Amino acid sequence: MQTNTTPTEIILSVQNLTVSFDGFKALDGLDFAMADGELRFVIGPNGAGKTTLLDVVTGKTRPQQGAVTFNGGLNVLRTPEHQLVQKGIGRKFQTPTIFGSLTVFENLEAAAGFNDGIVRVFGRVSADDRAKIEQTLELIGLHGRAHVRAGILAHGEKQWLEIGMLLVQEPRLLLLDEPVAGMTRQERNRTGELLQAIAQRCSVLVVEHDMEFMRSFATTVSVLHMGKLLCQGSVQTVQNDPRVIEVYLGRSHQQH
Ligand SMILES: Nc1ncnc2c1ncn2[C@@H]1O[C@H](COP(=O)(O)OP(=O)(O)OP(=O)(O)O)[C@@H](O)[C@H]1O
Ligand SMILES: [Mg+2]
Repeated sequence: MQTNTTPTEIILSVQNLTVSFDGFKALDGLDFAMADGELRFVIGPNGAGKTTLLDVVTGKTRPQQGAVTFNGGLNVLRTPEHQLVQKGIGRKFQTPTIFGSLTVFENLEAAAGFNDGIVRVFGRVSADDRAKIEQTLELIGLHGRAHVRAGILAHGEKQWLEIGMLLVQEPRLLLLDEPVAGMTRQERNRTGELLQAIAQRCSVLVVEHDMEFMRSFATTVSVLHMGKLLCQGSVQTVQNDPRVIEVYLGRSHQQH
């Protein structure tokens, strides 16, 4: 699966990370790492600290303690939020930040231009950007919708467009927080396939609640609980881990 990198290259390394809110530890000495080119799922019950982890990696929240290293050397905790985007950390929020009055193509064009740091007149897209946008449209399955106003897209299509807008910025690591929330089963499956395809180009970290989705598309899963890494491994490993069963289903399921 990993075509362009060796598995030993670490794209993201988190050590002993602690984030406190008024004395409550949302992250409590968390250690976490993922290899370049990986599609990693992070799961865990409500309040486990999943979104907080993404907030720290994107520079939105500063921790009380710990270290976060991106791409082998960048000290994330000392890098301003906007620079982290430029360095290749892309994040998808649950509510898509697309421009409803622009077409799908124009949205992608705007995102590509944002990356170049150039304010340009629509319709003057460079040949390179045009090729990149065409390729992205194909990947996100919106080729036939390129000239439709983004505001009229279906919920799933909007989510894919936002993923496309991140992709044209060519991230090294893409972070997605519950990307299939509110999607139909068919949209979820297409999203899973899309994430697997994206993982051929960049590393992908997916926070997800949907267990069926996780079972269908995950390879390695990290389980967070109370701000710590509870367990990590294949879908089967984490599903059969008694600690995971306990935090998800409660003790009663374990007792005679
Ligand atoms: N800005 C904040 N101020 C105070 N408490 C916060 C803040 N952000 C998060 N928390 C608390 O930290 C804990 C972890 O929150 P977080 O959003 O990271 O959990 P999560 O794993 O993403 O949960 P969910 O599955 O519900 O999205 C929660 O108890 C939450 O209430
Ligand atoms: Mg969350």
